[in-house]
Amino acid sequence: MKTLIKNGRIVTAADEYVADLLIDGEKIVLIGAHLDESGADQVIDAAGLYVLPGGVDVHTHLAMPWRGVETCDDFFTGHRAAAFGGTTTHVDFSIQAKGGTLHEAVETWHAKANGKAVIDYSFHVAITDLTDSVMAEIAELPKIGVTSIKMFMAYKDSLQVDDMTLFKSMQVAAKSGVLSLVHAENGDAIEVLIAEAITAGNHAPIYHALTRPPELETEATSRAIWLAQVAGDAPLFVVHCTCEGALAAVSAARLRGQHVYAETCTQYLFFTKDALNGTADDPFDGAKYICSPPLRETSDSAALWRALRTGDITSLSTDHCPFTYAEQKALGRDSFAKVPNGAPGIEDRLYMLWNDGVLSGRLTPSRFVELVATNPAKMFGMYPRKGTLAIGSDADIVLWDGAAEHVVSAATHHSAIDYNLFEGRTVQGKPVKVFVRGQLVVDGDNLMAEKGSGAFIHRASPLLL
Ligand code: URP
Ligand code: ZN
Ligand code: ZN
Repeated sequence: MKTLIKNGRIVTAADEYVADLLIDGEKIVLIGAHLDESGADQVIDAAGLYVLPGGVDVHTHLAMPWRGVETCDDFFTGHRAAAFGGTTTHVDFSIQAKGGTLHEAVETWHAKANGKAVIDYSFHVAITDLTDSVMAEIAELPKIGVTSIKMFMAYKDSLQVDDMTLFKSMQVAAKSGVLSLVHAENGDAIEVLIAEAITAGNHAPIYHALTRPPELETEATSRAIWLAQVAGDAPLFVVHCTCEGALAAVSAARLRGQHVYAETCTQYLFFTKDALNGTADDPFDGAKYICSPPLRETSDSAALWRALRTGDITSLSTDHCPFTYAEQKALGRDSFAKVPNGAPGIEDRLYMLWNDGVLSGRLTPSRFVELVATNPAKMFGMYPRKGTLAIGSDADIVLWDGAAEHVVSAATHHSAIDYNLFEGRTVQGKPVKVFVRGQLVVDGDNLMAEKGSGAFIHRASPLLL
């Protein structure tokens, strides 16, 4: 099947120009001016539209167990939402069970995706229980296409690892072509602050933010950076960086030449911790915004926006971790400490960044593409198969109407979650058609993909930027 996309404005991290693009089967085979229509099975006129590489979201939690509940999007509803937002590949976190192996974790996540996927996907593996045999497994992960591990420095008594685990994991990762990821917050100090808040009778959602101050993210980020340096300059990717202090630690490391990278997530650009106060009608509404690290101050958001432009933030992810408000967040009605941590956003990332980043003049379209597709594909070993529009790349393509206005709402989004953080906002920018490996998966308001059409992506080692 050959599809010719004509007259679109092609945007890559490097260039922006009007041209035609030919898809043959799953791949892009030709890009040029005035390509011959005669051999094509279908011709799509993309005049007036941008032609973007499909978005790559390297931080999601689909069907993830969390203290007795599970995130409400599985690999079908989560993928459906991603596709409608223009994301065609994601990397989800498979999590080692205590006493289990890393291979079992990856197999468990494969089973979650099998038969459901409609976009392409891959897995990181989160280390929770480091033994000698698990150390040996880290070195073997690239053979199964997994080239990133994650260590949680927070979530005491569940996911959190100690510094010895963190350090040893980084050491073996550095020697194995595996990227180390950290959730950087000081989980021990947070645990003390949570206990103090509860003893004092402070149960409202805002205490989630007050018990996880930015200094504890800054401290953990700095600690992880220095440990990575000593662990053989282990390449380090700091997930969901939220505050000025952590960002300064990342910038300083990068200035020293250390292989340190950071992502931020959409919600940290748009909201502050004030959202955790809820509404006048419903103070518990703040629970919708409980994610970790928490939302910060306006000055932190401003610093993140600057870093998106200057390069100290490498990419934008979502940390899509959806728990329903009516049932799952409600488990913490009597205490913020029982509210499942996480916020949704897999569908919203591209248009929110386009609207407030590109249309506001903060970012060029090329930088936008770099942040949402190219850099994550490079960092996570999928480039140039994913993350760009080039001959030989997968035909993961978004025909993007940069001016289309729409109102964001849970009533119309495609995730299983019952709320949307951006509810009621009018934004511009929307996919018109989305292709995954040459297959049309979204056409306007219609999902065209069949369940199970998404494929696992066997990743290479990171391309260090
Ligand atoms: O609150 C969050 N972010 N939940 C998901 C787990 C994590 O920390 O990434
Ligand atoms: Zn995290
Ligand atoms: Zn996460």
